[in-house]
Amino acid sequence: MKFFIKNCHLDQEKTDCIVVNIFDSCRFSTALHYLDRCSNGHITSLLKLGDITGKTGELLMLYHVPNISAKRVLLVGCGEKDKITRSSVNKILKKTINMLKKISIKNVIYSFTELNINVKNNIYWITRFTILAIKKFLHTVIKINSSCKKSINLNIISFNFFEKNDLFTAKIALKHALAIDSGITSAKNISNLPPNICNPLYLSYQAQKLAQKYQDNIKVEIIDIEKMKKLGMNAYVAVGSGAKNKPFMSVIKYTGNSNNNKVIALVGKGLTFDSGGISIKPASNMHEMKYDMCGAAAVYGTLIMAAQLNLPLTIIGVLSGCENMLGSNSFRPGDVVTTMSGQTVEILNTDAEGRLVLCDSLTYVERFFPSIVIDVATLTGACVTALGESISGLFSNSEDLSRELKYASQETDDKVWRLPLLEEYKKGLHSPIANISNIGSSKAGAITAACFLSYFTKKYNWAHLDIAGTAWKSGSKGATGRPVELLCQFLLNQIKEYKLY
Ligand code: BES
Ligand code: MN
Ligand code: ZN
Repeated sequence: MKFFIKNCHLDQEKTDCIVVNIFDSCRFSTALHYLDRCSNGHITSLLKLGDITGKTGELLMLYHVPNISAKRVLLVGCGEKDKITRSSVNKILKKTINMLKKISIKNVIYSFTELNINVKNNIYWITRFTILAIKKFLHTVIKINSSCKKSINLNIISFNFFEKNDLFTAKIALKHALAIDSGITSAKNISNLPPNICNPLYLSYQAQKLAQKYQDNIKVEIIDIEKMKKLGMNAYVAVGSGAKNKPFMSVIKYTGNSNNNKVIALVGKGLTFDSGGISIKPASNMHEMKYDMCGAAAVYGTLIMAAQLNLPLTIIGVLSGCENMLGSNSFRPGDVVTTMSGQTVEILNTDAEGRLVLCDSLTYVERFFPSIVIDVATLTGACVTALGESISGLFSNSEDLSRELKYASQETDDKVWRLPLLEEYKKGLHSPIANISNIGSSKAGAITAACFLSYFTKKYNWAHLDIAGTAWKSGSKGATGRPVELLCQFLLNQIKEYKLY
C-alpha cells in the first residue's frame, strides 16, 4: 500500500474515488465546493434530494459527476465543523474504509484537511492520525499457514492539500505515521503468534533480524541461561526453570547519529506463555497467556520505528523472553532466590513471575547508565480491575518522566493513568526470611507489583507501564499494538531539534 501527499486539481485526477467532507446541515467543505463548481452545481442539485445531511458517519456515493475525472465521489458526513474530535474522525474513517473495502476500489484521494481537531499543528496530527487509523482498520490477524490471503484491493491512498505550505508538514506526518505503523503492526503480528511458535528463542531471532536489517544502527546481544547464571540473574532463571523452552533475554542496542549520549532503556516483559507455574492458573482463557509477551513486542515495535526514522537517540531495548511452566524442575512457592541486585526474594506465588523476570532485567540495564528506564508489562490482572481495557497503568519514581509520558499519551490518545507507589504498599512485601516476597497482602495488586519493581530501580529515573488490560482484546481481534504509539511519541518528544511539526 502506498501513500502520497499532494496538491492537485481534484477535478482532473483519474482515480477510483475522491473522499470529501460534508458538515452538518449540508455545509460544504472547500473540496466539496470546488467539485460542485467544476460540475456546474450538479452536486448541489443532487443534495437537494436530501439523501445526506452531514451527520457524523453518514455516507453518500456519487457516480459519474460531470466534469470530474474520478469514477466516484464519496461524501462523508462529519457533523458540526467546530465540534470534530479524534473519536469522531475515527468513526468517520472506519465507515469510509468499510465502504471502500466492500467495493473493489484500488486507489483513492482523501481531501480531509479541513477536519480540525483543535490541536496545535492540526495538519501534522490530522494527517498522521488518519494514516494510522486507515492502517488500523485494514489490519487483519494473520492466519497460520493459510493459503487464502485476504486480498485488500486498496493500494494507493493519496491526500490532497489545498495549501502548498502544508505539504512539508504533511510529508513529515506521513513519514512518522508509516514508521509508527511498522512498529505497531510488527508488535501486533508477533503478539498474535501462538506460544509454540513464538517462544523466547523465536523472540531472540526476531531481535537478531533487526540487527541484520539495520546494521549501521542496531547491535544485538543475546543473554542465554548460562550467561544469566553467571550474571546472578537467579530470579529470571527461576521463572524459566520449569520449561523446556529456555529463557533468552535479547538486548537490542540502537544508536542513531547523535551527539546526545543520554541513554533510554525500554524493558519489555516477554513471557511467551504464562501458565502460572506451580501456582497454576484456572483453565478458562489460559490460552490468552500467550499475550504475556506484549510488553516485549511493544519494545520491539518501538525500536523498529526508531530505526526506520533513524532517530538521533541511543536506545537499549530489552526483550525479557521466558516461559512459565510446570515441571519437576520448576521453581516453587517457598523458594528463596538471590536476585542480580543482591536482594533476596521469597517466592510465595509462582504466578507473580513477571516481576521476577523484570527485576533482574532492570538491574541488568544499570550497566548502560541509562538516564531513563521504562518497563512495559502485562503485569497484573489487578490493573485490569482498576483501569479496565482502555487505560494502561503508569507508575514512576520521577515527576518529570511521569509528566512526559502523560503528555505523549495525551498527544496520541494511547491512554495512561498514574497510580501511586506508596511506602505502606512497599512494606506489604515484607518476608520473614528474605529481603522481600514476590506478593503482598494488599488488594491493590497493580500497585504492589509496581512497588516490588521499585526495589530494583533506585539508580535511575524509571517508569512502569502495566498494559495487562490494554495490550490485547479477547476473541478474534487479538493484540492492539499498545503502547507502541505512546512510546514512539515519547521518543520523538525527546528530540528537541526535531520539533519540525
Ligand atoms: N500475566 C499475569 C497478569 C495478567 C493476568 C495479565 C490477566 C492479563 C490478564 C501475571 O503474571 C499474573 O499472573 N499476575 C498475577 C499476580 C498475583 C499472583 C499476585 C495476577 O494478576 O493475578
Ligand atoms: Mn503470572
Ligand atoms: Zn505473567
